[in-house]
Amino acid sequence: MPCSVVLGSQWGDEGKGKIVDMYAPSADIVMRYQGGHNAGHTVLADGHSYILHLVPSGIIHKGVANLIGNGVVVDPKALLKEIEGLENRGISFKDRFFISDRAHLIFPYHVLIDRLKEDRAGSAKIGTTGLGIGPAYTDKANRSGLRVGDLLDRAALETVVRANVVQYNILAENLYNSETIDAQGIIDEYYEYGKRLRPFIADTVYLANAALKGGKKLLLEGAQGAMLDLDFGTYPFVTSSNGSSGGAAVGSGVSPMHFSKIIGVAKAYCTRVGSGAFPTELKGELGDALRAAGKEFGATTGRARRCGYIDLAALKYAVTVNGITHIALTKLDVLSGIDEIKVCTAYRIDGEESARFPAAVSTLEKAEPVYKSFKGWTQPLTGIARFDDLPKQARDYLAFIKEFLDVEYCVISLGSDRNQSIVLSEAFNDN
Ligand code: GDP
Ligand code: IMO
Ligand code: MG
Repeated sequence: MPCSVVLGSQWGDEGKGKIVDMYAPSADIVMRYQGGHNAGHTVLADGHSYILHLVPSGIIHKGVANLIGNGVVVDPKALLKEIEGLENRGISFKDRFFISDRAHLIFPYHVLIDRLKEDRAGSAKIGTTGLGIGPAYTDKANRSGLRVGDLLDRAALETVVRANVVQYNILAENLYNSETIDAQGIIDEYYEYGKRLRPFIADTVYLANAALKGGKKLLLEGAQGAMLDLDFGTYPFVTSSNGSSGGAAVGSGVSPMHFSKIIGVAKAYCTRVGSGAFPTELKGELGDALRAAGKEFGATTGRARRCGYIDLAALKYAVTVNGITHIALTKLDVLSGIDEIKVCTAYRIDGEESARFPAAVSTLEKAEPVYKSFKGWTQPLTGIARFDDLPKQARDYLAFIKEFLDVEYCVISLGSDRNQSIVLSEAFNDN
């Protein structure tokens, strides 16, 4: 039963959208398993650019079904807007797009608290997307959340929204000295969203497992990345869900027994949006040059991404935690023209060298990267179709990374378009 996972193995924005879109024609179903509209997955198909936030990155391919799994948090207003925008561009959702009835909902009070908490934190802020992601997952874990299926149940909406609004208004008023929220407006608004979303609401656990049983192929799409994972990332500077492969099972209802390939998408360098430790960050000219060459501005918030050298100590940890079998290495083309390219292989912390990724962010903040240097190349790479046609310096760089991580490459990506890739193996074991 072929099911493969595509996940982020750094701090997000590795190019998951491109890789999922590229592999989607070999799948029957693409399913997002966690995160919310904090994600921004860019797909460039035949000159047309799509930025997907909640809708899975298989949607551009007509013959592929797309599911939003139970592990995702859904802001129905944002989802409806995204669906409408894509429909206006000729993409059909009818009978090929379904949302889990178990997926939790984001409400305006989650957005309000996310923003108030960040404002109050000042320089200690996480730098969240401000979209209510953390508070929505908090309500889920607190068993006070509402799920997509509840949108169809006016009584459930009434009871839980009213109870939550009482609590959130106490917080807003007394802790943050802020405006309060009106429960009735939310209940009416969300019941209307429910009516519009009704045709898409389904038990995706059964849909996905029945499809697998029937021999169909399923691609599970993660959001964010290993270093933003709630358990394994640079806590507390993380998101509130598990983008790791364990999260793929929990967020889809598909047993890890069915996973064949676990594809970790990694940039040939590193970026990070928001606050938190980033040992290989380049703050000077080279960082600016990478940002310009790689167009490193957030797909969701437009924020400038912090840029740095590839961190193999962190990436090796991501490979271990996720069981990554294949790396899809993206944006190698962006490194053209850099004289010397460095690779972090370990950290020096309090005078001691260690290849381990530390748990405490205060330790990671002290970490000085131990670098190995590589000679760069000058020629542009976009357009190269065969691995052997890459410049020798680029092949040396790739060979070192592969050996260090002890994984295979499945794709070397050399541009944003789905065709600008060297494909070394397919998404599923049997093709
Ligand atoms: P995601 O969140 O992991 O899907 O990544 P984003 O879409 O947020 O950011 C990746 C950006 O890099 C997008 O603008 C992509 O179009 C672009 N991209 C993906 N792969 C490549 C590549 O190999 N080369 C270049 N130059 N751009 C790429
Ligand atoms: P994709 O799927 C990059 C970051 C935010 C912030 C932290 C917590 O496109 O790779 P949140 O709003 O989730 O509570 O913010 O996580 N973040 C991302 N960074 N790519 C993403 O998604 C991200 N989603 C959240 O910038 O640092
Ligand atoms: Mg992104």
